[in-house]
Amino acid sequence: MSEELIRVENLTMHFPLQKGLLANVFAKEKRFVHAVDGVSFNIRKGEVLGLVGESGSGKTTTGRMILRLLEPTSGDVFYRGRSITSYTGHEMEGLREKMQVIFQDPYASLSPRMPIGKAISHPLRIHDLAHGAQARELTLAMMEKVGLSPAAFLYRKYPHQLSGGQRQRVVIARALVTSPDFVVADEPIAMADVSVRAMILELMIRCREMFDLTYLFITHDLATCKYICDRIAIMYLGKIVEIGPLKEVFANPVHPYTATLLEAIPVPDPRYRRTHPMPKGEIPSPINPPPGCAFHPRCPLAEPSCRLNEQHLVDLGSGHKAACSLKTL
Ligand SMILES: Nc1ncnc2c1ncn2[C@@H]1O[C@H](COP(=O)(O)OP(=O)(O)O)[C@@H](O)[C@H]1O
Ligand SMILES: [Mg+2]
Repeated sequence: MSEELIRVENLTMHFPLQKGLLANVFAKEKRFVHAVDGVSFNIRKGEVLGLVGESGSGKTTTGRMILRLLEPTSGDVFYRGRSITSYTGHEMEGLREKMQVIFQDPYASLSPRMPIGKAISHPLRIHDLAHGAQARELTLAMMEKVGLSPAAFLYRKYPHQLSGGQRQRVVIARALVTSPDFVVADEPIAMADVSVRAMILELMIRCREMFDLTYLFITHDLATCKYICDRIAIMYLGKIVEIGPLKEVFANPVHPYTATLLEAIPVPDPRYRRTHPMPKGEIPSPINPPPGCAFHPRCPLAEPSCRLNEQHLVDLGSGHKAACSLKTL
């Protein structure tokens, strides 16, 4: 088994709730959005861990804390065994070359006024890795590798002159140009047209092999995990409710939330009937998360005890863990 590249321990982010000034002055106690609440997992070198959950479950916040774009309220992140909070400002700059991010919306993450060649080579210049002709050469080579071809022709184009799929390739090229070994891909295909989603996923799989990458693959869509993830972690209201090898979790989902997410994946067979009901209602507010198991208000199996007892991940063997005492006891 390969070495551990990333480990997060009890990662927690409670955002103070923004209210009007007067309301804050008169409030008896400060209120917080429990965006991420005690999340722990590791990612081995070369592995793809899928972080899956509905919108608002805390996936992006987790990714941003790992990249230290956001200081956690508590908990820690380790890169190659060393806590990233112990990095000095200068060391952190070096680490940023090694840990990169691909955002969901290529339009929002590219400047409309910067030719794409310049955008892709920008990280080389800010990290002082290459300048001038050398930066251009490295950029052209990276563009060809991610399928932006002919690179010399596309180099001077602006984002609006490209297709959606090409723009996402630009974002990928820009993330990979500094030779990172870890990439947080935050819903990289959510904004793409259906026709280009498979192409982008294939490109990400090819890049993983070409550049020996490790991914945290964030998605609200469990179905796409099948194509790229080795393991998956299911998040609900800031907590991981199930984690394990992809095949194992798909074949034997233990948490009722995982089971309902799996049931929601469309099956191309008109005779197929669902056996689990879909989750009722919407994900509750993370400002006052429900007591006990946060999923209990929507859970088809909920019993009175689920309101009372907080749930913890229980090890089921082979790295499979789930947090539902109804199913694990
Ligand atoms: N900067 C912030 N300030 C306050 N609340 C935030 C902030 N960022 C995210 N949140 C809240 O934290 C929760 C988790 O958000 P996020 O991590 O973006 O979830 P996801 O990526 O799974 O959709 C949401 O309820 C969101 O509204
Ligand atoms: Mg998000």
